[in-house]
Amino acid sequence: MIEATAPGKVILFGEHAVVYGRPALAAPVTHLRARATIEETGAPDVALIAPDLGRQAILSQVNPNNPLAAIVRVVEQYCGCSLSDGYSLSVTSAIPIASGLGSGAAISVAVIRALAVYMGDGRSLSTAETSQLAYEVERLHHGTPSGIDNTVIAYEQPVYFVRREPQPVIEPFVVAQPLRLVIGDTGIRSATKDVVGDVRRRWSADPHRFEAIFDDCGRLAEEGRAALAAGRLSVLGTLMDENHECLVRMTVSSPALDRLVAAARRGGALGAKLSGGGRGGNMIALVTPETEAAVMEALLAAGAVRVFTSDVG
Ligand code: MEV
Repeated sequence: MIEATAPGKVILFGEHAVVYGRPALAAPVTHLRARATIEETGAPDVALIAPDLGRQAILSQVNPNNPLAAIVRVVEQYCGCSLSDGYSLSVTSAIPIASGLGSGAAISVAVIRALAVYMGDGRSLSTAETSQLAYEVERLHHGTPSGIDNTVIAYEQPVYFVRREPQPVIEPFVVAQPLRLVIGDTGIRSATKDVVGDVRRRWSADPHRFEAIFDDCGRLAEEGRAALAAGRLSVLGTLMDENHECLVRMTVSSPALDRLVAAARRGGALGAKLSGGGRGGNMIALVTPETEAAVMEALLAAGAVRVFTSDVG
């Protein structure tokens, strides 16, 4: 049996603006993982199994848009090989879907890693190749992803990311003082693709206004990177607050996200913002050991369906 996993992620600065070429910072959520398992069956086909969703399908019979089939096809195309018979591929995930934590990219990376092992030593995939293949899968589903999700998830380290052609800028960022984040889930599912598409429509209708907001987000990501390198956590918190305000101006926040962000700040967080596509999903709050419990309590009292912590650095 082959097993491979991949983590979730949070965006510290720059979601949405990153799609338009501005810098962004993201970090893996290492304890929240997607898992892919491959077992040889010897059968003349491939069983695709998603026990969490109660779904099972046969590769040769599914719609090409089936998310697991799409990953297998992308890997087959890249490797110039057939992966169409003789095994079952099962996927489970602790990362809630459509919640801004990178569940789609994590599933892609876990499956690509498992398929790379299944193909054998001669064809192992580098991290860069794994990320690139996951990006291709993201493009099938999301239209215009920036590439930040597949990158932070495949590299499993905090990254400074700028979308560029032909290659993005990917640099690990320095964390002088480790961060503790509290992550709060609104419980509202929101498809990143839809929100990214809506931002694109608004940007087309008023490019001047949206470019200015994206510029502000890019500046905050650069300042955030400097604050992280200097270990200036209170500055970092203020920058996160400012990033949330930019996301409000972009219309990607929601009453539930704003409520949780405000509750975290009242609970003593150094700063808080939505994380990911927005309109639902999760928010993050920067806390200290002294404020962590109060912030978690405040988030639950404000309606978070789930809260947990994650460390960066
Ligand atoms: C999603 O995690 C981040 C977005 O900026 C979309 C993307 O970068 O592809 C909203």
